[in-house]
Amino acid sequence: MKTLQSVSAVLRQTKLVSDVLLKATGSGSVLTARTQHAKRVVPGEIPQPSIPVNSHNEWDPLEEVIVGRPDGACVPQFTTEVKANTNEKYWDFYKKYGGTPFPDKHIEKAKQEVEEMCNVLRHEGVIVRRPDVINWEKDYKTPDFSSPVGLYSAMPRDILIVFGNEIMEAPMAWRSRFFEYRAYRSLLKEYFKAGAKWTAAPKPLMGDELYDNTYPIESIEDRHRLAKEGRFVTTEFEPCFDAADFIRAGRDIFVQRSQVTNHLGIEWLRRHLGPEYRVHELTFHDPNPMHIDATFNIIGPGLVIANPDRPCNQLKMFEKFGWKIVQAPKPTLSDDHPLWMSSKWLSMNVLMLDEDRVLCSKVEKPIIKMFEKLGIKTVQVDITHANSLGGGFHCWTTDVRRRGELQSYI
Ligand code: ARG
Repeated sequence: MKTLQSVSAVLRQTKLVSDVLLKATGSGSVLTARTQHAKRVVPGEIPQPSIPVNSHNEWDPLEEVIVGRPDGACVPQFTTEVKANTNEKYWDFYKKYGGTPFPDKHIEKAKQEVEEMCNVLRHEGVIVRRPDVINWEKDYKTPDFSSPVGLYSAMPRDILIVFGNEIMEAPMAWRSRFFEYRAYRSLLKEYFKAGAKWTAAPKPLMGDELYDNTYPIESIEDRHRLAKEGRFVTTEFEPCFDAADFIRAGRDIFVQRSQVTNHLGIEWLRRHLGPEYRVHELTFHDPNPMHIDATFNIIGPGLVIANPDRPCNQLKMFEKFGWKIVQAPKPTLSDDHPLWMSSKWLSMNVLMLDEDRVLCSKVEKPIIKMFEKLGIKTVQVDITHANSLGGGFHCWTTDVRRRGELQSYI
């Protein structure tokens, strides 16, 4: 009885405090007061910091997301690094069309699918932001190399990554992607003005020294051997990485040395993040690693979808963490559908809207079943033509804001 009385006394006191707060802000919520303030920013005046950027993992409730654009996407020139990252089946396509836009009709279909995906996200209560439309057909030359075209702004996941209130531009490793950040500068300036921390990791020069021209492209055995030694088509001449080789679980960040992310790049990010984070390097049985999210996709606190074709060599570590690793079912996409820049495993490249809702493909029935078994509600969209540009839902997006705090999940 005594305890009950003291509880109700505390409750009464709390009520008093919240009444005072309500009077002080003159509105029902402190958040509304802050939003109203943000609207009153005068040009040239330094705005009050708020939280325009906040994300620590891949599954907290999603509030704002950047969705890429298929518009103007160009086929990259068939350079060493492109050859090492693409399926032999498409090499003739690259030789023929490298330096020109991807087929119009295909891009039109991809655009419709991505518009639908944006509508679905909005319907699920997420704010959708888009990069600028850029003419990727302009050729360019730096003192170190030249390129007939830029690639695209289809995959924000590859170039942008968020750690808490910091949004970072990755250095990239393909010459056709050197200037890709330009498509995101309007958004980044806006987030910066609203209080976000904005970082651009040092760009590699991308001269010839960054690429191993003797890399054994044709021999899978040699590539497996080199992958074991941690050697890929990019050298260690200077740091490079794509953001999509990293995947976040709060204080623990997982990364793979890949065709586009080298050890120096991983070390750069490790030092940049400092002692608050642990950066773990993972290796997979994969002669062609590029972007971790169709290989090892962390979808919840201690929950991972793993690619059965690319087993992880550090599974023991995850057992120790007590994490659950679920093997993805085989993808079902037909062989004659073009996937110019990836494998079919985009089926597992899903975007979590929160721990209980996933954005995934309408046409990949086996993985839909897998989510149902896990008790995760599927929100389905068909982006089969958009997939052809090299990405699924996770690649086509970067989460700018998820409701949650920095935590440890191990
Ligand atoms: N390299 C992966 C595969 O072929 C595709 C990863 C795509 N991810 C991305 N963020 N673009 O399975």
